[in-house]
Amino acid sequence: MSRIDNIKEWFESYVASFCKEEADFTAKVLLKKKHTLLVLENIINLAKSIDLDQDNSELAECCAILHDVGRFEQVKRYNSFSDSKTINHALLGVEIIEELNVLKEYSEEEKALILSAIEKHNMLEIPKISNADEEILVKLLRDADKLDIYRVVTSYYTELKRNSNQGIELELPDKPAITKKIYDSLMKEKAVNYKYLETLADFKLLQMSWVFDINFKKSYKIIYDKDYINTIYETMSKTDEVIEVHRKVKIFLENNL
Ligand SMILES: [Fe+2]
Repeated sequence: MSRIDNIKEWFESYVASFCKEEADFTAKVLLKKKHTLLVLENIINLAKSIDLDQDNSELAECCAILHDVGRFEQVKRYNSFSDSKTINHALLGVEIIEELNVLKEYSEEEKALILSAIEKHNMLEIPKISNADEEILVKLLRDADKLDIYRVVTSYYTELKRNSNQGIELELPDKPAITKKIYDSLMKEKAVNYKYLETLADFKLLQMSWVFDINFKKSYKIIYDKDYINTIYETMSKTDEVIEVHRKVKIFLENNL
């Protein structure tokens, strides 16, 4: 079996080991498993769109499969996916991967690249990276992840009979109020920091602000074609601020197609 097949097999059995508890818990685990498999699809797509070489494409696949490994232990320990209330799931994932020696078939150099991408996948901004291969992996993983989170949240917000899913809403109150700092970030075309979130409306604006933190043309095109920004906007109360922010995001997206 190839290295990447071994990683996939390891992931399957690792996730299965969390599926023994009650149904509610297993549903949360399976939500993250599905997310991971779709991030994998996205990253393969994005890598193709930039003609990434075979070796780096394989590393990108490995990053996608392992990027949210920390989520399973996070929800088991804290019954929450809120990093700000519990633990940084990316760093927890890196710890687990090292502890369980998941990357034993990879060289030290490759391991460093993969772990760096996982560690940086949920940072507010990408820090300075001097290694070009590492930078590409980090950017691919961040875009592939955001594209799938757009799928998750838009289908959730538009569900007809929506049962409140705290795993997706991060336990935020469903109020239309917008926090000033969040509005300000968006108007400056900056991605919003999770620490300022107070309401579900804030969270929706945070998701819109990701267009300012997208790295590849193909990603902009997918966001546009799937109408993710308008879909989120349509679920919000149309206050002046929300209308203004939506216009800003929409124009930015269109200018990057
Ligand atoms: Fe993540």
